[in-house]
This record gives sequence, C-alpha cells and structure tokens, in this order.
Amino acid sequence: MLRRWLRDYINQKFVRGNINKNDRSGALHRAWGYIYTSFIEGDYFEFGVYTGDSLIESFKNYKIAKNWIDHQLVSDEFWRRETAKNYSGHVPCFHALDTFAGMPENQEDNPTFAKGNFLAEYDVVSNRCQRNGLKAPQLQLYQGLFKDTQDKLYTNVGDKKAAIINIDCDLYESAKDVLEICGKFIQTGTVLLMDDYNTFSADNNKGERRAFREFSGNSNLVFEPWFSYAYTGQSFLCVEEKK
Ligand SMILES: C[S@@+](CC[C@H](N)C(=O)[O-])C[C@H]1O[C@@H](n2cnc3c(N)ncnc32)[C@H](O)[C@@H]1O
Repeated sequence: MLRRWLRDYINQKFVRGNINKNDRSGALHRAWGYIYTSFIEGDYFEFGVYTGDSLIESFKNYKIAKNWIDHQLVSDEFWRRETAKNYSGHVPCFHALDTFAGMPENQEDNPTFAKGNFLAEYDVVSNRCQRNGLKAPQLQLYQGLFKDTQDKLYTNVGDKKAAIINIDCDLYESAKDVLEICGKFIQTGTVLLMDDYNTFSADNNKGERRAFREFSGNSNLVFEPWFSYAYTGQSFLCVEEKK
C-alpha cells in the first residue's frame, strides 16, 4: 500500500497540492489544476497586479500543474502519455495589467480604494516576477488604465482564449471595463476569479458584483458559480451556451 502510494507520488499521477486551502493561493491552485486536468488551452489574465503577489502565486501554481503534465508524458501507462502528448506543448502567456500608479479616480466613495492607493512601481514588479522565474515573453506587463492598454492586449493575445481571468481591481468601473475587454477571450472552461466579489458588504449595486451582474445579464455566456475563497472572492466556470 505504502509502496504503491510512494510510486504514484513519484510518478505524479495526480496534480500535487492542497485543494482545501481556501486562500487566494488555494484558489489559483484549484484553477490551474482544473485547467490542466481538463486540457484547456488558454492564457492567464490578471487585472489588478499591485506588487505582484497573486501574479507570482499564480505562476507557482501553474508550474505545479505543468509538472504534473510533464510526468504524464513519461508515465508507464500508455493512455496517460497519449492524452498528455497533444496538450504538453501548450505554454500559457501571463498578461498582467495595472496602472502601476495606484487606484484610478473612481466613484466608490471608499477610503480603501481612493485614488492613488495600492501604488506599486512597474520596474519593481517586473524585477520581482523575473526573480521568481516569470519573464517575457511568457510574461506581458501592461502599464496604464485597462481600457488604455486594451489594444496592446488584443494584439498580443491574437485569437487565443483565456484559461483563467483573475479580476482583482475592486472597483465597479474597472471591473466593467475588464469584463467588456475580456468577453471575446472567454471559452467553455475559462475560470473567472473575482477577488472582490463580496467587497462592499456584497452589495449588488457596487464594485465587481455590480459589474458582473450587468455583464452576465446581457451575455450569451453562462457563468456557473464554482467556489468562494479568501474573504471576498468568488469563482465561476464559464460556458459558451445560448441562454
Ligand atoms: C487590490 S490591488 C491588486 C492586488 C494584487 N492582485 C495582489 O496580489 O496583491 C488592485 C489593483 O487594481 C489596479 N486597478 C484598479 N482599477 C484599474 C484600472 N481601471 N486600470 C488599471 N489598473 C487598475 C490598482 O492600481 C491596484 O494596483
């Protein structure tokens, strides 16, 4: 029994990690584990980077999932090698967007999200990512308001789709812009992480919740609630289906 467990562990038959961790790292672990075990191709998008904590955490969890697929390729089981073969060449790009000048002007009237809060420097974040192994061309950093860097994002993404969209920008107007920009990237299987879904006391008329309610109400996409995480986060699985 122990020998079989040890052999399976070394062979990495399963993605290794703690799926019961309910923090942001745990959410990113579940998201990447789901994407890789479902063989979904697509890029990672993070809207609201600040100093890069969740971006780097996402990259670490991506590497855990990537490590699993690499082990499948050399598995002693034929079907594992075959199923992994077509997918293993896929390398997701990490698109990370922020003003890198703090929160923009906004109407939320909340001191936490006042203009200029969450200030981080582009070069510092870029260097920090590099020290953690995440660098261009796999990493694409975009400096400016989301709507102002949209064209560059579209050029870089081309006709690729999203594996994971991590919205961590707190504000209604920002989240509204993000969902409008990202609509065309969403495919069946895309994971949508909304880090601040229940911020503003889960008020349906504020913040990311309002932006999501309005966007999903006018969309042909179906958003299946998946798990909630950390203090205010909510994840969704996206399905392309006519309502
Ligand atoms: C809570 S912080 C992000 C936290 C980050 N994910 C982390 O791991 O620590 C929110 C970020 O969203 C950015 N942001 C909000 N609205 C934005 C917009 N419209 N365009 C660009 N960046 C925006 C802010 O500059 C801020 O850095």
